[in-house]
Amino acid sequence: MLYKAISKTLAVVIIAIVIIAIVAGVVAYMYYSTQQAPTKLVFVVIGKSVHPYWSVVEAGVKKAGQELGVEAIFWVPSKEDVPAQLSTMDSYIAQKVTGIAIAPSDPGAATPYINKGLQQGIPVITIDTDAPQSNRLVYLGTGNYKAGWLAGLVAWQLAKEKGYIKPGATIKVAMLTGSLTAMNSLERMAGFKDAIMNCSIKDPDIKGNINIVWLGPYNDQEDPVQAYNLALSALQANPDLAIAFGVYAYDGPAWAKALKAAGFPPGKVILIEFDVTSDNVPPLVEGYALVTVGQRQYFMGYYGVKLLYNMTKYGIEQALKQFIPGYPNNRIYDTGVDLVSTRHIEFTACTGERIVVLSLDEYKALAQQLGIDPSLLGLS
Ligand code: BGC
Repeated sequence: MLYKAISKTLAVVIIAIVIIAIVAGVVAYMYYSTQQAPTKLVFVVIGKSVHPYWSVVEAGVKKAGQELGVEAIFWVPSKEDVPAQLSTMDSYIAQKVTGIAIAPSDPGAATPYINKGLQQGIPVITIDTDAPQSNRLVYLGTGNYKAGWLAGLVAWQLAKEKGYIKPGATIKVAMLTGSLTAMNSLERMAGFKDAIMNCSIKDPDIKGNINIVWLGPYNDQEDPVQAYNLALSALQANPDLAIAFGVYAYDGPAWAKALKAAGFPPGKVILIEFDVTSDNVPPLVEGYALVTVGQRQYFMGYYGVKLLYNMTKYGIEQALKQFIPGYPNNRIYDTGVDLVSTRHIEFTACTGERIVVLSLDEYKALAQQLGIDPSLLGLS
């Protein structure tokens, strides 16, 4: 009897221990599985068009993703496409991704989407081109007014060397761009124009005694075929064109192709390009483009993802304080530009600024020093 009662109690105790052990095991498993598999971090970078320029941004995005062990998605429309950019952004907001960087083709149209992302707790920054009226946390990219200004100073200098700029002369200057809404395009053109107008007054040989005829801006909406057609018809209508400005990456190559097709000898028109890519280097080497303004777009992608990651890891304020000089008064990180040509050029501009243009070899060495694979930039 006694023996039976003891063994019954023992059985109950054993069953209780087994149940407790199972429950504890399940609880421990659940605890550790949530600890070991944190929510996946997904960062999205939205560009503006398909071009080797954007492939360099993408390389920076992927590199940062790899280094951080996070998912880094890069997306671009085939050409300028405001609705596609914004609906893509909206769907990533709905998916509750961890952070978004966008290069808004139309800052006004993008503002409600940028603000919506932020309201939902997703950090949003702009790269390449800004939307300062929005609540974007920071702009990470080229200082475009200054970059356009440098292009204008170079154009003036080379046109003067060529003998186009003389007292009493009339010179035609044409600008071809991919957008009339994106801020980078508007700022580059404003800087370019201001530099040339400034030189026309400050240059002691001219002192305002010159007539500058502005053609365009022609807008190709980031469509290379349209860019070429616009460049060609501008050249056919203005065989005396003195200066051509390619505001976006494929505008310089479009001018160069049109110059060839229209039978202009290389160097007759002072062509200034933007960017150093596999598309922009051949016009320089062939002598159709004289100088290009190289952006450091690799870092827009690379630092873009790293900064968004740091915001989720250390908090937005802390990440911005660490990364942006002069934050919170300043909310811009200028990635910088370099002037590039086939040869090294140095001169003092009409404004007194000392201008240095790097040769392709010097630029290649600089890229290597900065950790950018030169073959990504069309420099083998
Ligand atoms: C601009 C981009 C543009 C790209 C291709 C670059 O110069 O910074 O905004 O999308 O050219 O057109």
